[in-house]
Amino acid sequence: MHVAIIGAGVIGLSTAQSIYEHYHDKVSSLNIRVYADVFTPLTTSDGAAGLWQPYLYDKGNVQETKWNKETFDYLLSFLSSPESIKMGIFLQSGYNLCTEPSPDPSFKDIVLGFRQLTQRELDMFPGYSMGWFNTAIMLEGKTYLPWLMNWLSKRGVKFHHRTIHSFQELAESGADIIVNCSGIRSGDLQPDPELTPGRGQIIKVDAPWIKHFTITHCNTGVYDSPYIIPGSRLVTVGGIFQVGNWSWQNNSIDHENIWDKACKLEPSLKHARIVEDWTGLRPVRSKVRLERETIHFGSNRIEVIHNYGHGGYGLTIHRGCAEKAARLFGEILQQQAKAKSRL
Ligand SMILES: Cc1cc2nc3c(=O)[nH]c(=O)nc-3n(C[C@H](O)[C@H](O)[C@H](O)COP(=O)(O)OP(=O)(O)OC[C@H]3O[C@@H](n4cnc5c(N)ncnc54)[C@H](O)[C@@H]3O)c2cc1C
Ligand SMILES: *[C@@H]1O[C@H](CO)[C@@H](O)[C@H](O)[C@H]1NC(C)=O
Ligand SMILES: *[C@@H]1O[C@H](CO)[C@@H](O)[C@H](O)[C@H]1NC(C)=O
Ligand SMILES: *[C@@H]1O[C@H](CO)[C@@H](O)[C@H](O)[C@H]1NC(C)=O
Repeated sequence: MHVAIIGAGVIGLSTAQSIYEHYHDKVSSLNIRVYADVFTPLTTSDGAAGLWQPYLYDKGNVQETKWNKETFDYLLSFLSSPESIKMGIFLQSGYNLCTEPSPDPSFKDIVLGFRQLTQRELDMFPGYSMGWFNTAIMLEGKTYLPWLMNWLSKRGVKFHHRTIHSFQELAESGADIIVNCSGIRSGDLQPDPELTPGRGQIIKVDAPWIKHFTITHCNTGVYDSPYIIPGSRLVTVGGIFQVGNWSWQNNSIDHENIWDKACKLEPSLKHARIVEDWTGLRPVRSKVRLERETIHFGSNRIEVIHNYGHGGYGLTIHRGCAEKAARLFGEILQQQAKAKSRL
């Protein structure tokens, strides 16, 4: 059984892990290969700030809220182990600030210690009329991805540095099942008009005195207004979410905008040393595409599992999605076993 996974971001690697965990002892000679043209530290998953936090509202998509929660609980379970820091996992608390009255967010009952801000806290943030404080989890891609690759390598998973141009190409090189975790570029393989980039640009700064995250919201629920998220070494400063913009270039006007607004929110940033800019494209979709598809070419067919479109919350939702993808994998195995026994 040869499984080909396209993508070595957090989605591809964690899906490989879940499939291995559930099936390596059930399928004889399970052979998992990961194909990607970009690996850590250069994927979108590496650049992300790494805060566990979904968009504010799930808009009725309770399925994704469930996957977010599964991921939070999974990450939380590692905090009692020294392994957590090798995985890039640690606790972090902070503020979400709103300019207008807003209903409680979908993550209210998932994070730790969620509460409304007091007036004294709001007084620290002029211009914001309400907000919440809670403790969440950081999951830094630049640490987590190497950890996942190491975990997988030790168990015989092979990595191939290669651009995939078609599903057929993988089928012809022996793949029995393909898992599509190609992020924003999934459209290269099969057009998906629903998938669009949400361009982000961030500034990484050296400001070790900043210990809390501060995320502002102006009613959209996505990351298009200033945010400041301290990581293990550098602080991520952002606030750009440009839908439909495919540019991977850093833009100096965006840089100025991010910086001016962030310094208003946190004036001490003026004394921070700017380390670098980074631009990434969030794979935006109305919802994650996580489903099976049988693709026919000529007289052949191949089973594909799609797992892409995680927008600005890929690290936040990854484990729940990986587990679901593994269950879809199990369904395919069962059907194939049934089909064989009928022959
Ligand atoms: C500025 C910014 C900040 C963010 N902050 C956060 C945050 O704090 N918390 C959070 O949860 N999320 C955050 N995100 C979102 C998160 O980064 C994404 O949701 C996540 O990285 C998506 O993971 P992925 O594995 O699908 O894609 P990627 O990490 O982009 O990986 C895609 C993989 O597919 C491969 N690939 C694609 N097409 C092909 C092909 N044809 N052939 C071969 N290989 C291919 C690539 O080489 C790569 O390995 C942020 C995003 C941005 C831009
Ligand atoms: C794989 O996923 C991408 C989205 O990341 C999508 O655009 C593409 O069509 C998918 N490929 C196939 C073969 O379905
Ligand atoms: C996309 O972003 C680039 C880089 O910031 C910018 O130069 C360009 O004008 C933007 N395009 C659109 C359509 O917004
Ligand atoms: C953006 O700037 C950083 C340095 O700050 C650089 O490493 C990166 O290559 C730049 N991105 C592009 C696409 O030029």
